[in-house]
Amino acid sequence: MHDVPESAALSSTAAPAAAPPATAGAAPVPPAAAGTTAAAADAGPAARSPFVRLGDLLAGLAPGRPPLSLAVGEPQHPMPGFVGEVLAANIAGFGRYPAGKGTAEFRTAVADWFGRRYRLPRPLDPEAEVLVLNGSREGLFAAAILARRLAPAVKQAAPTVLLPNPFYAAYGAGAEAAGCTSVPLPLPRSGGWLPDLEALTPELLGPAVALYLASPANPQGTIAGRDYLARLVELTRAHGVMLFADECYSEIWLGDAPPTGVLEVAGRDFDGVVAFNSLSKRSSLPGLRCGFCAGDATFLRAFADFRNVAAPQVPEPIQAVGIAALADEGHVLASRELYRAKFDLADRLLGGRFGYQRPDGGFFLWLDVAELGGGEAVTRRLWEREGLRTVPGGYLCRSDAEGRNPGSDYLRVALVHDLATTEAALARLVAGLA
Ligand SMILES: Cc1ncc(COP(=O)(O)O)c(C=O)c1O
Repeated sequence: MHDVPESAALSSTAAPAAAPPATAGAAPVPPAAAGTTAAAADAGPAARSPFVRLGDLLAGLAPGRPPLSLAVGEPQHPMPGFVGEVLAANIAGFGRYPAGKGTAEFRTAVADWFGRRYRLPRPLDPEAEVLVLNGSREGLFAAAILARRLAPAVKQAAPTVLLPNPFYAAYGAGAEAAGCTSVPLPLPRSGGWLPDLEALTPELLGPAVALYLASPANPQGTIAGRDYLARLVELTRAHGVMLFADECYSEIWLGDAPPTGVLEVAGRDFDGVVAFNSLSKRSSLPGLRCGFCAGDATFLRAFADFRNVAAPQVPEPIQAVGIAALADEGHVLASRELYRAKFDLADRLLGGRFGYQRPDGGFFLWLDVAELGGGEAVTRRLWEREGLRTVPGGYLCRSDAEGRNPGSDYLRVALVHDLATTEAALARLVAGLA
């Protein structure tokens, strides 16, 4: 969630809205009923970057110990050793404008990677079913605009975008840019932190142009299982809703088997479904700005046309690094092992406290700090006592139609550092929460 460099997150003076108590499991409000209430929740502090809001929250407060950021989900693991070499070998590519949809070699590498990583119904066609992205964020943002544009007339009067709540900020920004009302879907802990499929009624899906889901999720790390994804595809497809599956944490999993990818259950045409992924988390290359999306060829053809005039291209040398990174699983395995070791530490130091559960995947702790005054109070406390920068959970959520923010009791902590730094950070976290 790297919307704004944290150093730049000090300018605004607006105070974050005070969040009323959270309720888990409130039903999503169909747009006909939500109407202006849901739209109003889009405006003001809720729509601002969580990191800008964090800067405001901590402005003027001195850190109690040398500062350490556990706020931004920016992997600090070693990047693959070949990055410099591949860039150098392809340096001439900086002398050309890159093609918007990506080089044929990059798109083929993506299609091949999907074929190795997932049990797809058939191989992806790199010509029609894959696009390069300047990191997955811009693609996730822009996809909502296209979903709105391509939606049938019947959805155009009051279009909505369905978002998990909490969610990655680009989904909401995309919905807003598309002129759609965001409808937050509750993620109750009792439901495994996933949107309740039974709550995805025809009233809710009817006006929706898109639904976003991240698996593994940020922040809870939930992995949606095969059956869940298959049913979700059925539901969204039946109501003409584009399903945007954010799979950028797909390689950071802590269990025995890798997460299912949405394209595995999307049928032979991948109709109505697009998967987004990136080298930022997989290869610890967040600054490379290299991502990709794959799936529904009709959507991607229109997306490519739109992107040709509106989107950032990805330089060819960057795509060459992407090809090399996708061909190498060694660095991915080493990085995954490092995340596992860090969660072993978290199990030991936090086990049974603050609602801590070892997640299915991803690299965040999602801690229930209601008893200590909630996410904002604890964020201030950890900064002032321990110099730790964390994110109040409420900043990652939208308030529901009743004005309740489901994340306000929570704290997000990114485990992105090396093992020794993480061990020291967790000790400081535990001390700060004591
Ligand atoms: C859930 C989620 N999706 C997408 C992204 C975007 O990553 P990138 O643009 O680096 O691919 C992030 C980054 O933190 C994320 O947490």
